[in-house]
Amino acid sequence: MCGIVAYVGPKQAYPILIKGLRRLEYRGYDSAGICMLNDVLNIYKCRGKVADLEEFVKDKHLTGTIGMAHTRWATHGEPNVVNAHPHFSENKSVAIIHNGIIENYASLRSELINRGYHFSSDTDTEVLVHLIEDILIHEKVPLEEAVRIALNQVIGAYAIVVLSKKSPDKIIAARKGSPLVVGIGKEEFFVASDATPIIEYTNNVVFLNDGEIAIIKRNKMLRIKTVGNKEETPYIQKLELSLSAIEKGGYDHFMLKEIFEQPRSIRDSMRGRLHMDQGLVTLGGIRDYEQKLLNAKRIIISACGTSWHAGLVGEYLLEDLARIPVEVEYSSEFRYRNPVLSEDDVVIVISQSGETADTLAAIELAKAKGATVLGICNVVGSSIARATDGGVYTHAGPEIGVASTKAFTAQVAVLTLLALLLAQRKGTIPVSRFRTILGELNNIPVKVEQVLKLNNQVKEIANLYKDVTNSLYLGRGYNFPVALEGALKLKEISYIHAEGYPAAEMKHGPIALIDEQMPVIVIATRKGSYEKVISNIQEVKARKGKIIAIINEGDVAVKKLADQYIEIPETEEMLVPMLATVPLQLLSYYIAVIRGCNVDQPRNLAKSVTVE
Ligand code: F6R
Repeated sequence: MCGIVAYVGPKQAYPILIKGLRRLEYRGYDSAGICMLNDVLNIYKCRGKVADLEEFVKDKHLTGTIGMAHTRWATHGEPNVVNAHPHFSENKSVAIIHNGIIENYASLRSELINRGYHFSSDTDTEVLVHLIEDILIHEKVPLEEAVRIALNQVIGAYAIVVLSKKSPDKIIAARKGSPLVVGIGKEEFFVASDATPIIEYTNNVVFLNDGEIAIIKRNKMLRIKTVGNKEETPYIQKLELSLSAIEKGGYDHFMLKEIFEQPRSIRDSMRGRLHMDQGLVTLGGIRDYEQKLLNAKRIIISACGTSWHAGLVGEYLLEDLARIPVEVEYSSEFRYRNPVLSEDDVVIVISQSGETADTLAAIELAKAKGATVLGICNVVGSSIARATDGGVYTHAGPEIGVASTKAFTAQVAVLTLLALLLAQRKGTIPVSRFRTILGELNNIPVKVEQVLKLNNQVKEIANLYKDVTNSLYLGRGYNFPVALEGALKLKEISYIHAEGYPAAEMKHGPIALIDEQMPVIVIATRKGSYEKVISNIQEVKARKGKIIAIINEGDVAVKKLADQYIEIPETEEMLVPMLATVPLQLLSYYIAVIRGCNVDQPRNLAKSVTVE
């Protein structure tokens, strides 16, 4: 949802800004722009991707050691040049970039129009820059104070950077609801939506909190003030993020790299938590809340998209192993439907980015109703990680491909650990069974490696189905969320319509769709409702649908029925999602590549959804 980057220091700003934008492009890519501050503010912007901006500015005046840049995911106003950021104030003395939504922009806009301001874009952002200029003119205060006063009039979410030609060595940045990190280098400062544009230069960062304004002056120490005008001491953290983790490492796309990273990311998410020798699971981040979880009347899992699918697997695991009632909620629904919650409930939110606006709102609601809120997050220091009472990080590493892959399997790994930990404490499964599942979980990374060896076979299957327009994904029990996830992956990156369904529900409607054109991807692994799934396959075959089956090695029955099959290693039924999802990720990936789609940046999508 828009990427922001800014720089001030001794170096030329342009190369740093453009490289930073490329790293942030996963956040939005419908238009991009840059502003260099010399004696004047030079703004260049264009529709399209960062590469288009680079092309566009080739012959422009880009020297300077202070500047800011933006890559946009449109909310207010279509993606075009005028709506692209940065935006100028009326007299072109102030410029702004913004990520978020100003909810009261309409009333502010009419007030400003009455005062003689002209709006050139349809964005909500432009009100803020005019407002800042207005305050500067009438109240004659420094830039940071004008920004602070303006922010007090604004309702909504924002991460902003403001430059003014009258303050040629100053960057003012502020956040509320949208992320912002300040990097502190040697005589230089960086501001960005996440740490990826910064990490190459420094690992000393300050994550701004909601309601904080960073006042950055060349060669001076960073100052932080709140919008309520309170001076804060910057809390400088050392980031442990390597440059290689945010680069493609020889793969054609981030998505493929991230699919192939799964043995490592699952292993890293279990390291130090799964203790085979002692037959034990420990999760340090929720140690203080274990008793609360054990006594919980109910666990509510709240998340969006792929993380919601992981939550569904979590529901089955927690009920199966720990015998705690679980409900899984879309954060966007949960936050608006006045749910019944009490202090005896524990809410677990799941988020890769840790910035999803609806999930953040779900946290606020749950806290307000007295529930304990725990998080399963991938991005360290993210808003969700900080807003929750406690939680467990997935150590999947940066996920840059817009379609989530390694985050999902890491989330499921952490949820499995959680369910096992609670089951052990509650004594809801026999010790020998606990040990068996623990051993199998420990083997999952090796089995994912085996699944990844099927890469070429999946590519061939992708070739057969590249031209379909519809598809159905079926699974039962633990494989139902896998079907949902497989369908989501296909539709988001290849634009083929795909539906995930519980296999037995097919006859209640979707079966009407089946004809000889319809590929039906069935997760038909041997444990669970295997025989029932075979019957569902028969129902599809009887209507001439094509079957692509995910089966276990050595399967005979489904193999005979399937048009194509992919054999994955056998494991415990509850662990199958971590294996069965992988070939479905690959299938979507290759279909999208063959169709010529932009796999890492699918149309209309953005990696972190910081607007509701
Ligand atoms: C799908 C995908 C999205 C995210 C969803 C939640 O591939 O990436 O559906 O899963 O937007 O995002 P997080 O997990 O960052 O809260």
